[in-house]
Amino acid sequence: MSISSAAARQHLRPEELKVGGGQNAAQEAQLQYKGAQVLRVEAVTEFQKDVIKKMQDEQVLDTWLNPAAGRTHVDIMVPATALDQVKAELQNVSATFRVMIADVEAAIKDENPALSESELEELEGRKGHRMTFQNYHRVSDIHGYLDYLAQTFPDLVSVQTIGSSIEGRPLKMIKITGAKAGPKPAFYIDGGIHAREWISPASVSYIIQELVENREKYAFADSIDFYIVPVVNPDGYEYTHNGMRLWRKNRKDAQKGRCAGTDLNRNFGYKWGGAGSSRDPCQEIYAGSGPFSEPETQAIRNFVSSLGTRVRGYVTFHSYGQYILYPWGYDKKVPPDYTDLDRIGKMAAKKMREVGGASYTVGNSASLLYAASGGADDWAKGGPRVKYTYTIELRDRGRFGFLLPANYIVPTGKEAFAAIQTISEEIAATG
Ligand code: ARG
Ligand code: ZN
Repeated sequence: MSISSAAARQHLRPEELKVGGGQNAAQEAQLQYKGAQVLRVEAVTEFQKDVIKKMQDEQVLDTWLNPAAGRTHVDIMVPATALDQVKAELQNVSATFRVMIADVEAAIKDENPALSESELEELEGRKGHRMTFQNYHRVSDIHGYLDYLAQTFPDLVSVQTIGSSIEGRPLKMIKITGAKAGPKPAFYIDGGIHAREWISPASVSYIIQELVENREKYAFADSIDFYIVPVVNPDGYEYTHNGMRLWRKNRKDAQKGRCAGTDLNRNFGYKWGGAGSSRDPCQEIYAGSGPFSEPETQAIRNFVSSLGTRVRGYVTFHSYGQYILYPWGYDKKVPPDYTDLDRIGKMAAKKMREVGGASYTVGNSASLLYAASGGADDWAKGGPRVKYTYTIELRDRGRFGFLLPANYIVPTGKEAFAAIQTISEEIAATG
């Protein structure tokens, strides 16, 4: 394939242009999405899928939604400079496609009509924090909300920093204590492993709000200690706000200017480096230089391990696709107790649909999607052996993809909370 032109590649790797770059370089990075499109390709044959994979490997395009067992389509983002070539290539192999997002830059502008600094200050004056569920927020607003909750509900809530990111941002965790006396089961929840999946930190923040500010509604919350990290990858997340909106990885080696970032969800140390991960730092699924090579995954490993056998739940939120996935992810195999995981997963999906309206597909990760090694969920199940371990892929199914408009935060947050409620009720009932 001859599409790996330098021009096309540059559009997916504009950080090459911005060594030592400031605001202008950042603006330039966002401009790279002008005229870029998201295409939904009906890739039915293995050959057609391979053609797309090859273009992904050459960084001509960026796969948003990989092939999966239950569907035949793949979503790809193609920069303006490569559109003609990619479309021709698809036609060559008789793959049909339609345009899902006609201009990525325009979709970015529409998704999050950001609050101004003065609006945020007004909010802070009135409520004591800057968080809303009508907008996507910066890390400082999300972390500020955790601190506000700790100050306002000191008996129930505490905030702890479990590590720091490559660029030195705190990895903040909120602990929400169950009111019952004595040792309680622990439930670890996180979001924002992948930087561009904005609905994840937003929904996890929504879960935190329910567990703290609407606590009286939920009896299960008395019998469980929740440990929640809303933004696992703060460097990547900030970069999606001030650099490349569609960045996925952390910001390892960002100062080097090229091929930055490790995929944190390939960096966990269980079956690390296997199928569906890459040793090439230029790839989106780069697994890192070794298992737990990144401070963000180390912090999670150390913290969750410190909880010992109390941990009964581990849920990590991603987007998009609307899936409830249980291990294993590294291979099409299931853990011995998968019938429990499947049963509770299906109960969660039912409840999610009731409260939010979207349907979620439940199943084993590698069988339903694709094999991907080094995921957080596999480590949680394979390392500390957490019983109820899931990866939940939130909304949507591809109409907006990663650029889900902010008015979907509340319905999606309700779905995410319904999943946590279902799993929690099971944990509370079984001790
Ligand atoms: N979309 C997620 C990813 O690609 C799914 C992870 C599922 N878990 C796994 N261990 N493969 O990272
Ligand atoms: Zn993800």
